[in-house]
Amino acid sequence: MFDYDAEMRFYRPRLREACGVRDGDRVLDVGCGSGQTTRDAAVDAGHVLGVDVSERMLEHARRQPTPNVDYLLADAATYEFEPVDLIISRFGVMFFDDLLGAFTNLRRALRPGGRLVVLVWQPRRENEWARVIPEAIGGTYRDESAFTLGSQDVTRDILTSAGFADPTFTAVHEPLYYGADVESAYANVLRLREPQALLAELDPAAAERAEAALRAMLAAHDTGNGVLFDSAAWIITAE
Ligand SMILES: C[S@@+](CC[C@H](N)C(=O)[O-])C[C@H]1O[C@@H](n2cnc3c(N)ncnc32)[C@H](O)[C@@H]1O
Repeated sequence: MFDYDAEMRFYRPRLREACGVRDGDRVLDVGCGSGQTTRDAAVDAGHVLGVDVSERMLEHARRQPTPNVDYLLADAATYEFEPVDLIISRFGVMFFDDLLGAFTNLRRALRPGGRLVVLVWQPRRENEWARVIPEAIGGTYRDESAFTLGSQDVTRDILTSAGFADPTFTAVHEPLYYGADVESAYANVLRLREPQALLAELDPAAAERAEAALRAMLAAHDTGNGVLFDSAAWIITAE
C-alpha cells in the first residue's frame, strides 16, 4: 500500500495546529482512512469517531487501537451522526458526488458553536505532484474528484448553502514526500491507481519509455532528503 502518512508528513502538524482540539471535544474525522489524524485528535479530545467508506482503510486504522477512538464504516454524506464539537478531515471531503448534500449532512452533525476544519487540495494546476507524474508517463488523469473543492468561490457557496458560517481559506504549501530515494519513490508511484492505469494502456515499448521518464523525473525531485513535490492546499475553517 502507498505510504500516505509518509507522504503527508509535512501537512500533519499544519492540520493538527489548525484543528485546535480542546480538552474533552467530541470530534468527527471524515474520510479518516488509516486513522493518523483520528489518533492525533484523540490526544486532546474526549472522543473521536473516524468514519470511512472503505473497510480496507478501516482495517489498517483498527490495527492501532487508541483509547477514546472509534471507527465507523459509513458514507459520511448520508449517515446520521451523533452531534460533535468539531469536524475534521485530511483530504477526505472532496469525493462526495453531491457536495452540497454531504456538507448539509455534516452541518447537521455539528453542535451549536461547533467548528469545521478541513484540508482540501487547491486546483490541480497548483499541485506539482498532480501534474508531473501523468506528464512523465505521457498521459492525463481522468479522475478530478480530488480537486472538487479547489475553487474558493465554489466551495464558499457550497459551505454557506449547507449552513456553515464564515468559511475562511488559508493557503498551505508543503512538500509531499514520495520516498527516501528514487527507487522507493518509483515503487510508491507504481502503487497508485492512476499511474498504474496510464501505464497499463501503453504498449511494452511505450511503457518502457514512460518508466524511464518517470525515474528521470523522480531523480530531478530527489533532494537528498527524500523525493519531494510541491503541493498547494486550503485549510478551510467554518462554524
Ligand atoms: C485521500 S484519503 C485520506 C485518508 C485520511 N484522511 C488520511 O489523511 O490519512 C480519502 C479517504 O476518504 C474516504 N472517503 C471517500 N468518500 C467518502 C465518504 N463518502 N464517506 C466516508 N469516507 C469517504 C476514502 O475511502 C479515503 O479513505
